[in-house]
Amino acid sequence: MTNFNLDSIPRIQLCLLPTPIVPLTRLSTHLGGVKVFIKRDDLTGVAFGGNKNRKLEFLLADAKRKKADVIVTEGALQSNHCLQTAACSAKLGFECELVLSGNIPEFITGNLLLDQILDVKIHRAKDSFERKELMVLVEEELKDKGKRPYMIPTGGSTDIGALGYLKCIVELERQSKDLGIIFDYFVHSTGSGGTQSGVLIGKELYYPELEILGISEGESKQKLRKKVKEIIENFNNIRGLNLVIGDDKIKIYEEYFGEGYGIPNQEMIETVKLVARLEGVFLDPVYTGKAMVGLIDLVKTEVIPKDKNVLFLHSGGSTSIFNYYNVFQKE
Ligand SMILES: Cc1ncc(COP(=O)(O)O)c(C=O)c1O
Repeated sequence: MTNFNLDSIPRIQLCLLPTPIVPLTRLSTHLGGVKVFIKRDDLTGVAFGGNKNRKLEFLLADAKRKKADVIVTEGALQSNHCLQTAACSAKLGFECELVLSGNIPEFITGNLLLDQILDVKIHRAKDSFERKELMVLVEEELKDKGKRPYMIPTGGSTDIGALGYLKCIVELERQSKDLGIIFDYFVHSTGSGGTQSGVLIGKELYYPELEILGISEGESKQKLRKKVKEIIENFNNIRGLNLVIGDDKIKIYEEYFGEGYGIPNQEMIETVKLVARLEGVFLDPVYTGKAMVGLIDLVKTEVIPKDKNVLFLHSGGSTSIFNYYNVFQKE
């Protein structure tokens, strides 16, 4: 065991924790007996919940420690991370500015509408490359005006953001004891690598028997693994640790996102409907819907054996269902 002390790291409580773990009994029967549970991180509290709130507990504590007064972050137009950052910033009294890429549609809905209600300043970029350039300009401009910006990269996925999911594994280990259940698999959507690196570090420190399976939302396995490794390496350097997490443990499946990030496909549509109709739980079309497609296939192909306990992370994002109304509405 290391002398790592999570409680000594600054954190501002934002989330309603622990998030519930619920058995998906009807889905488990539907899948032929594997025991599937869901961890409801869509219920983390601020705004519409989701995985970002856990990261923001640590990121915004770091911002406060550095005496920042404005939080700046970036993402796609309907980014869950940007919305949650704007809402958590509001709650803590920070100003917030967002750099968003994509074309603003005539009919504004989903997270962009919520960003507007929060009245954050929005800077527009053409694509993710232009977004990075704009982030630098916005930071310079704010500093020139005498402000103290705290810059958060895409998805809040840094060694500090990853602490949120490290802490989630501490929470899980306690819930596991209370429930008398050892979880064999932890299946989650992975995109900018912060969640996966956090749970991998948490597993290494607190829950060694857990296998982590990341289902990519659109990025290649190689690129995602690189991001996860970078975050773990930074974490090791900053915290003075030497955790060795080899490629064999960074499991990423890239076969379930279909044509690409955010592009709906039939498997996702059927799966979102299936889980809603069997369990009354709404997954989202971009992340958790596709991650559940992966879980179901991994059970069917017996990569996940039937006698195992599987925990699926609901990482939030269900508000985006409304952006995809055309693929869900009945004729
Ligand atoms: C709902 C949801 N799930 C999963 C993810 C992926 O998490 P990460 O970026 O930490 O890999 C995101 C990222 O934006 C998300 O919004």
